[in-house]
Amino acid sequence: MSGPSTYVPKSAFGKWFESRLPIVGLIHSSFVVFPNPRNLNYLWTFGGILAFMLVAQIVTGVVLAMHYTPHATMAFASIESIMRDVNYGWMIRYLHANGASMFFIAVYVHMFRGFYYGSYKAPREILWILGVIIFLLMMATAFMGYVLPWGQMSFWGATVITNLFSAIPVVGETIVTYLWGGYSVDNPTLNRFFSLHYLLPFMIAGVVVLHIWALHVPGSNNPAGIEKKTEKDTLPFHPYFTVKDALALVCFLMVYVWFAFYIPNFLGHADNYIEANAAVTPAHIVPEWYFLPFYAILRAIPDKLLGVLAMFGSIAIMLFLPWLDTSRVRSGRYRPVFQVFFALFAITCVLLGWLGAKPPEGGYVLASRICTAYYFAYFIIVLPLLGLFETPKALPASIAESVLGKSGSAHAMPQGAAHEPNTKA
Ligand code: HEM
Repeated sequence: MSGPSTYVPKSAFGKWFESRLPIVGLIHSSFVVFPNPRNLNYLWTFGGILAFMLVAQIVTGVVLAMHYTPHATMAFASIESIMRDVNYGWMIRYLHANGASMFFIAVYVHMFRGFYYGSYKAPREILWILGVIIFLLMMATAFMGYVLPWGQMSFWGATVITNLFSAIPVVGETIVTYLWGGYSVDNPTLNRFFSLHYLLPFMIAGVVVLHIWALHVPGSNNPAGIEKKTEKDTLPFHPYFTVKDALALVCFLMVYVWFAFYIPNFLGHADNYIEANAAVTPAHIVPEWYFLPFYAILRAIPDKLLGVLAMFGSIAIMLFLPWLDTSRVRSGRYRPVFQVFFALFAITCVLLGWLGAKPPEGGYVLASRICTAYYFAYFIIVLPLLGLFETPKALPASIAESVLGKSGSAHAMPQGAAHEPNTKA
């Protein structure tokens, strides 16, 4: 993934193996000597955290699947049995359910890091687009997973969201019938959701491999938003970034296990502990917190089809971001006017999340409409125009200069600021 390997196997077996399958060399060039920008901050640790969480979700999910029964008459009871009868079943389930939330926290940090530092800009467009595809797959996976416990919120959430497809002209009703496997959300729906919920994470893993491949062609962007030029701008991935990533991961895991062990139902909904009942509609049908901004956009628009288009459009528009942002300067750090609009965008997304949980009435609807308008305006109006009119600040001459000062030496920095030797890759 990072050019010809410099790895030289020591043992005779190593030489024999490497000449047939150079996988150790691939790992060595990608994750040991890979030259990373030396100025990466902790926001660059979230990709590794995401990779860890994907594995954690697959491992806990596979164990849950050993005890879960994907049948409408038994699914709810099988979850209760996992919680009460299976050894450590409660732990595996809470790790998996809260793991989904932690996965989304990490992905939102990862994406907003990209938004701010312009990581989607050339030459990283494909890397970004692969990220958006991963995000869509994650949303589909999480949505179908939430249906599996077959509680009230599972059932009614599935009913509301699958019904949205009926708004599509001509083929809408047929699509919904195929999604349901019948004429309402029922056992066939649960079966196909279980099957796809098991499949999609492996597809995500496949796209993640492409994502990292596309990353390793240009290498990481960085807070200064300028490309690496000389060896002085970089540090080898190991030990500098392996250790930094590991520290961030441990801190992240502490928050994760705090949720899983102390407040495991904090992010869930009490109604999902009531078995699905097609005859009783819950007072408020709310999706999981990570879908709320998109749910708010859906409900902000009075027309069903337009609402559905706006909701999917709010994600699809990210695919065009590399071309919508016309700025020559990549990093938000050197774009003072962009910083203001970006802050407004971030606040808008949080507000949309809050509004998504509120009943669609009165001032909430108006606020959702204003936020939705700004959400789209940010992509379609602000970013294209800002690049043309904004005067950015002067960029540092190099990555090394941005951390070490003009002299290019760590000694020019305040005490303790930078002590790394300029280690060769
Ligand atoms: C399972 C989910 C994902 C995994 C495992 C993953 C993994 C990674 C890793 C390991 C990196 C390098 C380290 C880092 O920059 O943090 C990275 C970089 C990147 N990812 Fe992801 N990613 C995921 C989802 C996404 C999504 C949803 C997006 C955007 C929509 C995205 C956009 C990017 C971009 C633009 C970079 C380059 C950042 C830079 O160099 O500044 N990723 N990803």
